[in-house]
Amino acid sequence: MATLSEAFADHHLHSPRILPLDFNSVDTVPESHRWPISDDLFAADHRLSIPVIDLQDPNASQLVVHACETWGAFQLINQGVPTEVVEEVEAEAKRLFSLPAQQKFKATRQPGGATGYGVARISPSFSKYMWHEGFTVMGSPLHHAMQLWPEPADDYTRFCEIIENYQKKMKMVAEQVTQLIFNSLEIDKEDANWVDSAFAALQLNWYPSCPDPTRVMGLAPHTDTSLITLLHQNQTSGLQIFKEGCGWVSVPPLKGALVVNVGDLLHVVSNGRFQNVLHRVMVDLSRSQRLSVAYFYGPPLDFRVRPLVKLSSQVPRYRPVTVEEYAVMKGKSFERAMSLIRI
Ligand code: OGA
Ligand code: NI
Repeated sequence: MATLSEAFADHHLHSPRILPLDFNSVDTVPESHRWPISDDLFAADHRLSIPVIDLQDPNASQLVVHACETWGAFQLINQGVPTEVVEEVEAEAKRLFSLPAQQKFKATRQPGGATGYGVARISPSFSKYMWHEGFTVMGSPLHHAMQLWPEPADDYTRFCEIIENYQKKMKMVAEQVTQLIFNSLEIDKEDANWVDSAFAALQLNWYPSCPDPTRVMGLAPHTDTSLITLLHQNQTSGLQIFKEGCGWVSVPPLKGALVVNVGDLLHVVSNGRFQNVLHRVMVDLSRSQRLSVAYFYGPPLDFRVRPLVKLSSQVPRYRPVTVEEYAVMKGKSFERAMSLIRI
């Protein structure tokens, strides 16, 4: 069977640059990172906002279903993740991104690899680079942590423990949200029997302060390849989601909340009823650095994703595809991937 790394490897034909810019070394935005100015770049609507849902609310199921249909995203509060766990992971992520560039480069994602330090995974689909650096974890980050902090051992073991603990907490929330959604959609238990072998990846995102934030893109528009994504953002704004008929809408950080995104796989599973939300990140105009931690969750690579909702009166809109096949399509064809499996 293919490994996670193979499915999520960089499949682009043009050898992509994996190393981010050493952002500390520049005081102007280089041409490679200068995006064409477009009208919508900073035109996000600040009046509308995605729903905030309390996981303990007796009506949580209906609220979640409605949010997934109308927005493809919501902010989840009261999900039981202790503040310390979030603060610890923030501190470790900052410790990582504050390392000298040469040190971070030692933990670079290998060409064709999936984990480690590097540019945004979606970079090969765009002609300009993003004002962003990232670190991807699948399971234990030990290998890369030892490259970042060769000694003392405390330095890398602490990082690993905190990252693993955070993933454990995210897994619990992801399972609850998935169960709530699957129950609401009346999906058969057998179609959810993959929970014990679920696929997950953790992505630390760092958006450095920028000398000219109006000319750069933090993270270009994309949908997530996951079933759902749980996103923690620190106190700096920047995340925006696209809502049909409204345009770009800001998603300001809300203390103690996790932003839940509907990913491509849930769009398929729900036969198109739930929106796989298009989102992007702008760099802060007041030059604050921004940190986010994304947890991507879904069925294992060999699971055949297909519309799992009862289709009594509808026709299936998507053909079955394994998670792995879809991840490869997404890597190669990016935004066209969904149309490749449409019936
Ligand atoms: C992602 C993502 C948003 C953010 O990592 O896929 O959309 O706020 N991140 O960093
Ligand atoms: Ni995303």
